[in-house]
Amino acid sequence: MKINFPVKDFAIGIIGGTGGIGKWFADFFTGEGHTVRVSGRAEGISIPEFAASCRIVIVAVPIAATLDTIREVGPLLPEDALLMDLTSLKEEPVRAMLAASRAEVIGCHPLFGPDVPSLADQNIVLCPARGDRWLGFLQGIFVKNGARIRVTTPAEHDRMMALIQGLTHLDTILMGLTLRDSGVEPSELEAFSTPVFRTKRAIIEKVFGPRPGLYAGILTENPNITEVVERHERNLSLLKELVRKRDTAGLAALLKKPEGPPGQIPGGQKSKIPSSHVFRSLVRNTRIF
Ligand SMILES: NC(=O)c1ccc[n+]([C@@H]2O[C@H](COP(=O)([O-])OP(=O)(O)OC[C@H]3O[C@@H](n4cnc5c(N)ncnc54)[C@H](OP(=O)(O)O)[C@@H]3O)[C@@H](O)[C@H]2O)c1
Repeated sequence: MKINFPVKDFAIGIIGGTGGIGKWFADFFTGEGHTVRVSGRAEGISIPEFAASCRIVIVAVPIAATLDTIREVGPLLPEDALLMDLTSLKEEPVRAMLAASRAEVIGCHPLFGPDVPSLADQNIVLCPARGDRWLGFLQGIFVKNGARIRVTTPAEHDRMMALIQGLTHLDTILMGLTLRDSGVEPSELEAFSTPVFRTKRAIIEKVFGPRPGLYAGILTENPNITEVVERHERNLSLLKELVRKRDTAGLAALLKKPEGPPGQIPGGQKSKIPSSHVFRSLVRNTRIF
């Protein structure tokens, strides 16, 4: 039986809804008129209370606590409930949700952090894994608020995340470590910095900030990352060799290949999706150097 929408007389429970991305979704669903119940480590309702009072239960705790939380709440949910997670990786949590419960299961990965003001222009990946009662509701509410939805499998999601988040954070960590090893004082870097450097440094500071576990987990928990790291290593060796030989023409040729107009990512199409407002103005208004 599909749910006859629009209905709002069901509660949405978010385990891990007192902070981070869980709180963002708690505020979002509340703003849409739903009753939302949340918990953190030291406050909110208990897991049995979530199961008894919420038709949708969302797991939004840190990666390291996700599987245990799923195993605790999963068996308590009835068949017509929805068990969903917001984890940045999808294969393992979705497998765990299917194994732990009889409920409908959807893996969800919001591809943004809790600092965005709304869903407008944001991407969300949904991995429906059991049942068809709730997918339409989620797609409807997200799309109505301006999000782009990609429905896919957990395996495809994790492969893409090895490139999107894995490669991004790998690069950031590598640059941060190299800067740290340089022995140059941060205040000295400031005086010589360019706009692009300051933007990259702000990202490095976030990754090397108070929540290192989030970024570490995104890299170490994704089985597809090894191949990406190896490819990255091969390209770094290639660059090292060209720089060592001072081969400007060789390096320039590498930036051009394969054929395509300047500005396109090699081998790909220019993105149709707008970049974040921070980068948009930076890229538009400055020369990249
Ligand atoms: N942050 C993002 O940008 C982002 C984006 C997309 C997906 N995700 C995914 O969302 C999930 C949560 O990440 P987050 O960054 O939002 O985490 P977070 O800010 O560290 O914590 C979120 C919630 O989990 C609770 N919590 C913290 N440690 C816990 C533990 N050991 N056991 C049970 N609950 C705990 C917190 O409660 P307290 O009130 O006790 O602190 C808070 O309510 C992760 O799976 C992450 O991969 C995060």
